[in-house]
Amino acid sequence: MPSAFQFQCHFVLIFLAALRGETRYLEVSNVPCCARCIDMLSIEGQFTFTAEQPQLHCATFFIGDPEELITIDYDFVNIDCQGGDFLKVFDGWILKGEKFPSSLDHPLPTSQRYVDYCESGNIQRSIRSSQNVAMIFFRIHQPGNGFTVTVKKNANLFPCNVISQTPSGRFTMVIPHQHRNCSFSIIYPVVIKISDLILGHLNGLFLKKPSAGCAGVGDFVELLGGTGLDPSKMFPLADLCHSFHGSAQMKIGCDNTVLRMVSSGKHVNRVTFEYYQLDLQELENRKENSIEEFCFPSI
Ligand SMILES: *[C@@H]1O[C@H](CO)[C@@H](O)[C@H](O)[C@H]1NC(C)=O
Repeated sequence: MPSAFQFQCHFVLIFLAALRGETRYLEVSNVPCCARCIDMLSIEGQFTFTAEQPQLHCATFFIGDPEELITIDYDFVNIDCQGGDFLKVFDGWILKGEKFPSSLDHPLPTSQRYVDYCESGNIQRSIRSSQNVAMIFFRIHQPGNGFTVTVKKNANLFPCNVISQTPSGRFTMVIPHQHRNCSFSIIYPVVIKISDLILGHLNGLFLKKPSAGCAGVGDFVELLGGTGLDPSKMFPLADLCHSFHGSAQMKIGCDNTVLRMVSSGKHVNRVTFEYYQLDLQELENRKENSIEEFCFPSI
């Protein structure tokens, strides 16, 4: 039976997916750039938030294309730090205590992923994310107070951690001789098709005991499913540790699907995949086959 916590995660991801639909709408309709207490923004520009009443739990999620980083500049801040207000930028997304990228896969320790305006003040007015998502948290007690930020996007040649902006797409992840792990997250139930996987040893020279799975192999790709944001808390559904050209497909009826590449740095690793949102009919069928247990395991 799903626990209350899992239910909340489930709810939150649905909520994010809904915000996303609205974001796309915002993009085409050119509304004035006023942020709301809970908001999701995928466009560049200057955004102002002014509290009309005490706003104690606000969060704005920013997202760009996979090959983009996000820069947030404080233009103007009028909050009462001494009175308990705050304004923090987070390098990634965090929801219900679950972070993306997970603390294992992010280049910075968790404490350095937060930049608190009340602590850094005017010293750090510009903050750049390490991937295509970032967010700000804020709390403002006094009506009339608020802030203005400018959000820009910058190119990222080797995107590592990514949250997909869309329920369908295609992506090639390359990790060139780097000892790091990268996760591509899709916050929708999807069918994912891997069409090419090169783990630095396509020519068959790579030796491995047949029955050992991927254990003990340096470099591999794993597919994870779950209901929250943090890939390190998701369930492993499949491992791929042999290079191939062709097509491997899997339907994953979870709220969040992650393709994660583990890379030792010895090779140039590369994987190409495409994904499509599973339709409701398919999800119902999956439930009957009790695949749902992947996403709501009983403990
Ligand atoms: C990458 O992930 C693997 C397995 O999950 C882990 O053993 C390894 O330490 C990680 N590498 C880095 C650089 O975090």
